[in-house]
Amino acid sequence: MPRLENKVVLLSGGASGIGAESARLVVREGGKAVLADRDEAKGRTLAAELGDAALFVPLDVTQEAGWQSAVAASVERFGGLHGLLNAAGVGVRNSIEDCTLAEYRRVNDINALGTFLGCKTAIPALKQSGGGSIVNISSVLGLRGASYAMAYCASKGAVRTLTKNVALHCAQMKYNIRCNSVHPGYIDTPMIAPRLSQTVGNRSGRQDLEELHPLGRLGRPEEVANMILFLLSDESTFSTGSEFVCDGGLTA
Ligand SMILES: NC(=O)c1ccc[n+]([C@@H]2O[C@H](COP(=O)([O-])OP(=O)(O)OC[C@H]3O[C@@H](n4cnc5c(N)ncnc54)[C@H](O)[C@@H]3O)[C@@H](O)[C@H]2O)c1
Repeated sequence: MPRLENKVVLLSGGASGIGAESARLVVREGGKAVLADRDEAKGRTLAAELGDAALFVPLDVTQEAGWQSAVAASVERFGGLHGLLNAAGVGVRNSIEDCTLAEYRRVNDINALGTFLGCKTAIPALKQSGGGSIVNISSVLGLRGASYAMAYCASKGAVRTLTKNVALHCAQMKYNIRCNSVHPGYIDTPMIAPRLSQTVGNRSGRQDLEELHPLGRLGRPEEVANMILFLLSDESTFSTGSEFVCDGGLTA
């Protein structure tokens, strides 16, 4: 039995990396995937590859009107909404001393405010469909600090606690909507490609990041997508407001 049969899932950041692998899994497990991303070329290519069970909608997650169109398009095309994955995000290196106000705002607008808008806009449609599951991608850097990633850590910490707030509100209101956060370690996607090609001392950037994980390697996007699939499915119906870590032992 497919694990997401007839469930409609809207995925921000669905054109690349973890979001794209999650979209592939949604379709493989019998669901419908609405890929919402600002990268139209990649998003349309993946939607075409996935066929009738997928739809691409252009979205800048910082724009409320764009979210409303994406949710409306999901319901119009597939008849409802049962899941939301907030995967759109940007990674930037900066410290408290060198991060500009503009850069802090940009990172937090995309990673944190984008997640807020996604949850807020999707909840009415999820309610109308009888409930559902929201999955917000935070990071191991939403669980602890890192001197080199100030704005990113702040944004991902906000995603972590926003998730708990959404979960508690929906539980209190008896909406049958769950909300959980996922905290990946370093995953081999286009986001970290620039870091992998840098040299750190006498090691490659890839070696440097691999050694952070007790399992001795980077994660693969499909490994995070498998955790997301579990959270979107009815296999996780007693989990809400929780943190799901997928980090090769990094935070252990
Ligand atoms: N790769 C990692 O090591 C890692 C680790 C922890 C958390 N994460 C998080 O996982 C999520 C997915 O990242 P990924 O590694 O797959 O990266 P990625 O760069 O492959 O994918 C991110 C996607 O988000 C989209 N996006 C960025 N800004 C957007 C905006 N304003 N509006 C709409 N779409 C936008 C991009 O176009 C891209 O398709 C992000 O939230 C990231 O912070 C990644």
